[in-house]
Amino acid sequence: MPVLSNIGCLASCAAGGGQSEIRPISNAAMAWEEGRILWVGTRSEEPVQYRGIPRLNAGGGLVVPGLVDCHTHLAFGGWRAGEFEQRIRGESYLQIAHRGGGILSTVEKTRLSTSRELARRCLGFLAEMAALGTTTAECKSGYGLDLKTEIRLLELYRDLDQRQPIRLVSTFLGAHAIPAEYATNPEEYVRLIVEGMLPEIAGRKLARFCDVFVEESAFSREQGRTILEAGRRLGLAPKLHADQLSDGGGALLAAEVGAMSADHLERISAQGIQALAERDVVAVSLPLATLYLNQSPMPARRLIEAGVRVAVATDFNPGSAPSYHLPLAMMLACNLQRMTPAEALKGATLFAAKALGLDGEIGSLEAGKRADFAIIDAEDVNHWLYHFRPTACRATFIEGRQVAGVGLGPVASD
Ligand code: NIG
Ligand code: FE
Repeated sequence: MPVLSNIGCLASCAAGGGQSEIRPISNAAMAWEEGRILWVGTRSEEPVQYRGIPRLNAGGGLVVPGLVDCHTHLAFGGWRAGEFEQRIRGESYLQIAHRGGGILSTVEKTRLSTSRELARRCLGFLAEMAALGTTTAECKSGYGLDLKTEIRLLELYRDLDQRQPIRLVSTFLGAHAIPAEYATNPEEYVRLIVEGMLPEIAGRKLARFCDVFVEESAFSREQGRTILEAGRRLGLAPKLHADQLSDGGGALLAAEVGAMSADHLERISAQGIQALAERDVVAVSLPLATLYLNQSPMPARRLIEAGVRVAVATDFNPGSAPSYHLPLAMMLACNLQRMTPAEALKGATLFAAKALGLDGEIGSLEAGKRADFAIIDAEDVNHWLYHFRPTACRATFIEGRQVAGVGLGPVASD
């Protein structure tokens, strides 16, 4: 049974309390066994039975719950760096998509990639995510848009979950865009999702969630409702890409179908905010996408004031958010969305876990939960996100095992 000691500040993010309540403990220690936390508290309160046990040295640093990236599009073929420059020169995301770029250009490259090629790339991404403190990641399909490739992406996530330490949670996003072969008959594609893809994916338990991009350029609210309700009947909980580029009533639909989360929300209406609050739908902010698309930020303050829990995630994808740096997304949530560092941390841990239905297992450092945590070289959460350093994360642990970072010495006398 290991004990981690010499923790300057432990931000437990223990369940209960509002967005800003991260319940920090100064001069803390933490013990775990078989991957689960046994005890967390101040060193002076440490139970006597732990006293003789060899302990790992947190070096006086900050300990936070393992970060939960609750929105990524992890597997895709190719990149779209050219679009980065085109947007800087003034073209919009939708103009680029209409000229043959955007999601459909990544679909073409993904269909042509072998599963082995995709796996090699994802393993590299995941190793770097672990080094940043990420311990759980949601992964969406959505760059296949045909039965064979969508299944291939979800099988890839299932295999990667076994092959590397980050816990992966899969989401079926067949409704990411209308594929080129259905451009003139989108209803036929909706039928393929409902009658062909969803039954196969649910039957093989390849995904936990079903997501839809509800947007003028993608799926209507009615199509979204049809797909999400079909998914729900088969046991896949709904999630939405909502109100990103325009207010398409996505948040209202999220509330109506009782979604686990509504994500993006840069253009959410006042009515949408009220609806999310009433149904306790988690709002997932994706400030990297906001920044890369040069948009106005999601109104996080209005959401928090209305009582909505706001999660923070990367949206890692080759178009609107080509980065899986979750601490960077947290820093942007502070600067663009006016969330405090404590609020951003709760958003990237406990509330992100809630967006995945996993807040009973992960997302906070409390007895009984998984021993997923990161040791940060900073005195507290404010200092971590303020003095934004590339090497701030010293070590990452998943279920009590170190998966990234430097070796931790023992504590000489404790
Ligand atoms: O979350 N909004 C839709 N999907 C992605 C973008 C995907 C892409 O551009 O390839 C997003 O921003
Ligand atoms: Fe996304």
